[in-house]
Amino acid sequence: MERTLVIIKPNGVRRGLVGDLLSRFERRGLKIAGLKMATMSRSKAAEHYAEHEGKSFYEELVGFITSGPVVLTVIEGPKAISIARSMAGPTDPSKASPGTIRGDYAISITCNIVHASDSSKSAEREIGLFFQQEEIQRYDLRNES
Ligand code: CMP
Repeated sequence: MERTLVIIKPNGVRRGLVGDLLSRFERRGLKIAGLKMATMSRSKAAEHYAEHEGKSFYEELVGFITSGPVVLTVIEGPKAISIARSMAGPTDPSKASPGTIRGDYAISITCNIVHASDSSKSAEREIGLFFQQEEIQRYDLRNES
């Protein structure tokens, strides 16, 4: 069983896509184990995107992710990290196939609708940035047994 962090970025919230995006993960059979809405502070965004500091797009990325509320969700399931990444599609929406989240809803690499952790190490670090242990719920999905 794996956990991953999926963030619905400010444009996903502003465009009214929260329900649709959460529903995609639920319909796939993944569990929503943690869920909250927040406006990211600049310092939290800097921590989250630390690996991109110094890159040409860094300021735009931090400016965008802090521009309005995001939805943060811990998604759980077998191979949840790679499944969530494949559902999101490539980082650059111009390379994303229809049927993926970015292929269906995005054209801009900065405003690419969702973030999904890229490895188990990133997932653990990113979940820890936004969720306390007690904010992650334990329950069984009916399709697990
Ligand atoms: P995300 O999955 O949130 O992880 C890092 C983000 O940086 C990525 O989505 C994009 O929004 C952004 N990003 C990555 N590469 C570029 C790039 N070349 N130009 C602009 N933004 C980028």
